[in-house]
Amino acid sequence: MKILITKELPYMPDFASLGYEVYINKSEGLMTYDQIKEQVKDANAIVSMLADKIDQEIIDSAPNLIVICNYAVGYNNIDFNYAKSKNIVVCNTPDVLTDTTAELAWALLMATARKIVESDRFMQAGKFKAWLPDLMLGQDIVGKTLGIIGTGRIGTAMGKMSQGFRMPILYTRKPNPELDALGAKMVDMDTLIKKSDYISLHCPLNDSTKHMFTKKEFAMMKNSAIIVNTARGAVIKEQDLVDAIATGEIAGAGLDVFEDEPIVNSGLLNNDKVVIAPHIGSATLGTRTKMAQMSFNDCFAVLSGKPAKFTV
Ligand code: GLV
Ligand code: GLV
Repeated sequence: MKILITKELPYMPDFASLGYEVYINKSEGLMTYDQIKEQVKDANAIVSMLADKIDQEIIDSAPNLIVICNYAVGYNNIDFNYAKSKNIVVCNTPDVLTDTTAELAWALLMATARKIVESDRFMQAGKFKAWLPDLMLGQDIVGKTLGIIGTGRIGTAMGKMSQGFRMPILYTRKPNPELDALGAKMVDMDTLIKKSDYISLHCPLNDSTKHMFTKKEFAMMKNSAIIVNTARGAVIKEQDLVDAIATGEIAGAGLDVFEDEPIVNSGLLNNDKVVIAPHIGSATLGTRTKMAQMSFNDCFAVLSGKPAKFTV
């Protein structure tokens, strides 16, 4: 049995003693599409990264493939309907990264609201000459309204964490008893967009969430509002976001994900209203280690004819 691991992970089992043959990409970067296509030919399993495109062509190049373990909770990079039609099991890594990702959403929200990165640049440049009444004026957080879009595990964790800041919560789409227990209100999308001071995105990327935020939605937001995205970049039409910030339609954005990663719209660079991170939502050693254990456990389970724990 051969496992293709498209990037070496922080935790790697002893494959040889387990009797598996492996191809492990140990280079600094990710594998190219063509490299994956070549290496997958005789693979029974793929452990893929979220930027690896596992489409019909890749799946068709792998006649012996039985399982794809995506080292991520999101799996929009995989044509999972096609995989399923070929009886290939698709696994992901939910739960273990929930709090870690919600923490990052908070870090971005607070950094954007309180100009932490701009302040740091200012200090590093030796520009602090005097305390001033109007230096780095940010936005309050306590008591402001948090709008959560996508109330699965991560969105729910985001809501629970907001309670230390005594924030009213708005959410949308389907009832969520855990958020309701915090006094959250389920509202329609337009109400959420109009009333929130902070909007945090936690939905998966699919046909119904792609470009959920465009010029029209930004125009509906408060001019003082901030949007935070730790979900997938393409939930926001990035150029419309850049324009909305430039024209003052909204106050700023904290972004961990981008529409065309790793390319970042130049309007988001050197922009003091924006705090950006290189898709590090789940990036702690503890969480990335647990994700690797989950991926390999499910990979080994399926390869030995047992059910996987975490399938999409
Ligand atoms: C990260 O973005 C993930 O989906 O795990
Ligand atoms: C993903 O983990 C989610 O349900 O938010």
